[in-house]
Order: sequence, then structure tokens, then C-alpha cells
Amino acid sequence: MIIAIDGPAASGKGTLARRLAAHFGLPHLDTGLLYRAVGRIALDRGLDLDDADATADIAEQLDVAELDEARLRGREMGEAASVVAAHPKVRKALLDLQRRFAHQRGGAVLDGRDIGTVIAPGAEMKIFVTAAPDIRARRRHLELERRGDAPSFEDVLADIRKRDIRDAGRADAPLKPAPDAHILDTTALDADGAFDVALALVTGAS
Ligand code: C5P
Repeated sequence: MIIAIDGPAASGKGTLARRLAAHFGLPHLDTGLLYRAVGRIALDRGLDLDDADATADIAEQLDVAELDEARLRGREMGEAASVVAAHPKVRKALLDLQRRFAHQRGGAVLDGRDIGTVIAPGAEMKIFVTAAPDIRARRRHLELERRGDAPSFEDVLADIRKRDIRDAGRADAPLKPAPDAHILDTTALDADGAFDVALALVTGAS
């Protein structure tokens, strides 16, 4: 069973994907980390994030085993990820790796922006997780405060809005629900509530 979880930044899709994977004993891939890693390596090397060829070379050589999650979670990494993720060459370089992950062990949970539309269009279950921008910004703000990286709430909200526009507006694999995705609005739900709704969808479908 492949479970595709998509949605905008701080919608709760990562937490939901992790919990579903643990519940069903499936491997989980947070595909945002791949784009974050490409952005991180490009910045470390002093490269221009707008350089599609240079960032695609990094994407081609990316080793999933070496993703250092803690270093990739920072605020500026989300922004860098969304810049490199708009390059079709970068997306193409990361495609096979994600598809292999989805199919290699007979099933997986993947979360990102284009899992249901591009990476695994045949997934048995597609959930598009969303929430109002100010709620997402509040969640992200809390998370950043816990990490000791405390920008103002307004700055976090502005980041989120900017990233939404870039991710939904790009030509290649824009952020949008697959036609057969279930929409899960977590504006008024906590993590447990979102998990319960998703679990009912998955068990109802299988
Ligand atoms: O999900 P996360 O916030 O870690 O993703 C960082 C950025 O990576 C997103 O804003 C998006 O531009 C890009 N991304 C993508 N496709 C995915 C996952 C992430 O374009 N499947």
C-alpha cells in the first residue's frame, strides 16, 4: 500500500505521515528533506540557488542515507528548498529515487507536494493536508521557538505565504491536490484528530 500525503508548509502532513507509517509498519520518506538537502549543499558550496544545472548535479548525487534532518529543518532551508524545487532538472533528478522508495518494499508513506500527482499517481490512498495560513504559521512559529530559532510570528507568516505562492505557482509539479485525493483540513484539528480522520480513510479504503 502506498500512502501519498501532500500539502503546504506546516499543514501537519509530516507528523501525519510519520504516524501512519508507524501504525502500518511502512517505511516513510519526507521528500521535503531531499529538496532541503540540495539547497543546503548548494549554499555550503557558495552556489547560486537559481543555477538549475549546478543544483541538479547536486540532486543527482544525493544520498538519502546521509540526510541530516536536524541541520535541514531550519527556517532558511525551507526557503532554499523551494527555490531549487522549482527547477524541472532538480525534480527530474530526484524522481527515480522517490519512486524506488515508494515501491521497493511493497509499500510506503511519502509526504511532499507532488506525491499524489507525480511521484505515485497510482497510490492507493492520497491525502491532501491543508490548514489556514495563520494556523500553519502559528504551528511553525512554535516549532522554531522550540528549536531556539525565534523569528517574529509576522515573519513566519510572510515566509509561509511566499512559499505557498512559489510552490503552487511553479510550472513543474505545482502544489495541488490530485483529483482523487481526500482533502484533510487540519485548521481545527490537533495531531491526534488529524490521525484519526486519516486512519478512518485508510482503513475504509483497504
Ligand atoms: O515539506 P518541506 O517544507 O520540508 O518542503 C520544503 C520545500 O521543498 C517546499 O516548499 C517545496 O518547494 C519543496 N518540495 C517539493 N516537492 C516535494 C517536497 C518538497 O517541491 N515533494
